[in-house]
Amino acid sequence: MNQNLQNIFSLLEQSDALSIEKKNLVKDWIKEVDKHIVTTEFKLDRTEKVKRTTVILLEETIEELDLKRKAIEETNIALQKTLEDLKAAQAQLIQSEKMASLGELTAGIAHEIQNPLNFVNNFSELSVDLAKELKEEVGKLEIAEKDKEYVSEIIGDLTQNQEKINHHGKRASSIVKGMLEHSRKSSGTKEPTDINALADEYLRLAYHGLRAKDKDFNATMETHFDPTLPKMDFIPQDIGRVLLNLITNAFYAVNEKNLSGLDMYEPKVIVTTQLTTNNQVLIAIKDNGPGIPDAIKDKIFQPFFTTKPTGQGTGLGLSLSYDIVKAHGGELKVDTKQNDGTIFTILLPVN
Ligand SMILES: Nc1ncnc2c1ncn2[C@@H]1O[C@H](COP(=O)(O)OP(=O)(O)O)[C@@H](O)[C@H]1O
Ligand SMILES: [Mg+2]
Repeated sequence: MNQNLQNIFSLLEQSDALSIEKKNLVKDWIKEVDKHIVTTEFKLDRTEKVKRTTVILLEETIEELDLKRKAIEETNIALQKTLEDLKAAQAQLIQSEKMASLGELTAGIAHEIQNPLNFVNNFSELSVDLAKELKEEVGKLEIAEKDKEYVSEIIGDLTQNQEKINHHGKRASSIVKGMLEHSRKSSGTKEPTDINALADEYLRLAYHGLRAKDKDFNATMETHFDPTLPKMDFIPQDIGRVLLNLITNAFYAVNEKNLSGLDMYEPKVIVTTQLTTNNQVLIAIKDNGPGIPDAIKDKIFQPFFTTKPTGQGTGLGLSLSYDIVKAHGGELKVDTKQNDGTIFTILLPVN
C-alpha cells in the first residue's frame, strides 16, 4: 500500500474520535483509493513500454525506408543507363537499316544499268570503226573535192562524238563496277591475322598507289604498333580493304592541304594499333589534313557521298568500310577537327 495511505491507516487505528463502524468505512475508502493508485501506476508503466516499443519500431521503419530509397535510386540510375543504351542501339539500328537498304538499292540499280551501258560501249566502239571505214570509202568516191572535204569533216566530228560516248560510257561502267563491288558479299574466309603486319602492308600499298598516280605526292608515314596484339580471326582481305580506304583518304586529305600552299606544313599520316582495356583491338588512322566540316560529318558514311572531283572519288570507300567493320562485330568511328586533322578508329572485338 502507498506509504501516505499506510500512515493515515495507522493514525485512524490509534484514534478514539471515531466509532468502530465509521473507522471501518474510512478504512474501506482508503483501500479503494489504494487500488486506484495501483491500477493507474500499472497503466502508466504499460504506456511507457508501448512508447518505447513504438520508438524502436519507428526507428526500424525509418531504416527500412532509407534502404528502399537507396534501392530505388540505384534502380533509377540503372534505368537511366538502359535508356541511354537503348537510344544508342536505336540510332545504330536506324543507321544500319539505312545502309542495308542503300546497299540493296545500289546492287539493284547497278545490275539494271550494266546491260544498257554495255550496249552503249559496244556500239559506240563499233561506230568509231565504221566511221573510219566510211572515211576511207568516201576517199575512193569520185565526187568534187570540196564535197569530199565537207563529208570527211562531218565523219571526223562523228568519230569524235563516238569516242566521247565510248570514253564516258567506260567511266560509267567503272562506277557501276564499284557499286557492284560495294554490295558484293565477301568471299574470303576468316583466318588468324596479324593486324600489325596487315596495317603495315596496306599503308605501303596506299602510299605507293598514290605515288604511282602522282609523282609529286609525298607524306610522312608513322606507325605505332602494339607488339602484344593477339592474332585475330577475321577476313584479311576485307579488313585490308577498310585499311586501304581509310589510309588512302588520309593521304588524299594531307595532300590536298599541302597543295593549298601552307608553309611549314608537313603532311603526315599515323597508324596506331592497340589492345584496349576492354579487350578490343583498336586501329587508328590519324592525319593532319584539313579535317571534315561539321556540315558533312553526318554524310561521309553514306554510299556515293564524295567531295572529290569526278574521277577521283566514288564516295563508296567509307560506306563499304563501315559495312565490313560492322560485319566483323566492330565499330568505325570518326573524330575530326577543322584545320587540325582527322582520326578514323576501328574497334574490333577479340575472339
Ligand atoms: N581523312 C579525311 N579527311 C578529310 N575528309 C575525309 C577524310 N576521309 C574521308 N573524308 C571525306 O569523306 C568523303 C567520303 O569518303 P569515301 O567514302 O572514302 O569516298 P571518296 O574517298 O571516294 O570520296 C570524302 O569525299 C571526304 O570529303
Ligand atoms: Mg575514299
